[in-house]
Amino acid sequence: MSDASQESSNPILSLIGNVFLFLVPATLIVMLGVVGISLVGGSMKKDPNEEEKVAAAQPAGAPAEAAPAAVEKAASAADAPKAAADPAAASVGGIDPAVMALGKTTYATCAACHGPDGTGLKAGPALMAPSLVGSEMLLGDPDLSLLVILKGIAKENMDFMGMMAALGAGLDDEKIAAVLTYTRNEWGNAAPAVTKEQAAAARAKFADVNAPAGVKRAEIQKIVDAHK
Ligand code: HEC
Repeated sequence: MSDASQESSNPILSLIGNVFLFLVPATLIVMLGVVGISLVGGSMKKDPNEEEKVAAAQPAGAPAEAAPAAVEKAASAADAPKAAADPAAASVGGIDPAVMALGKTTYATCAACHGPDGTGLKAGPALMAPSLVGSEMLLGDPDLSLLVILKGIAKENMDFMGMMAALGAGLDDEKIAAVLTYTRNEWGNAAPAVTKEQAAAARAKFADVNAPAGVKRAEIQKIVDAHK
């Protein structure tokens, strides 16, 4: 109760004292914070590319989900010189950018299962579809993946959550050729372009393959060989 009597004896002075006790440390903390932020900010700005990259990764007004794609783009742009130096990726240089662009747009159809980065979209612990990065089937004889796209793969097990349906009805020869050319030359993959003539020829020769639920995986090579 002695505190109360002291306070009441000089309330104004004790109020000023309390405010002062609060203001001094608070001002110091704020000042330290400002100095700290400007130091960190200054050191971050030392790399002039950094700001550019951030700007590229976040195009004004882009929806939030578009940002990762942009980051990926920035990253792959940075990797480009390295890829060009790699002889295995040499074929990328000879591919028509317009075909790659059409292939990339068309790939939206595939990304639902094979994932935006081609490694297969995750569905919990499982994958919707196999990775296309380094896929022997994709990078081998174009007729293999042409047959897969035109007829689909029969679902025989639960290795993957998705099902490779026949997509030949929804995609014309130009788009099929472009999406194969794109996937064969994206994410570090490198294989010759697939032409729309090859896609048209595959559509004609595989027309007699009667597999409404998709071809069996084990028979893909056999069917391709039988149509050479
Ligand atoms: C609805 C899901 C789904 C979509 C969409 C889809 N795929 Fe698939 N894809 C699969 C599944 C699942 C498999 C594996 C099937 C199996 O072996 O049982 C597969 C297999 C493949 C394979 C064989 C790869 C390998 O190494 O085994 C290729 C090539 C392929 N898909 C390309 C494509 C392309 C190109 C598109 C787009 C035009 C596409 N897929 C769209 C689900 C899908």
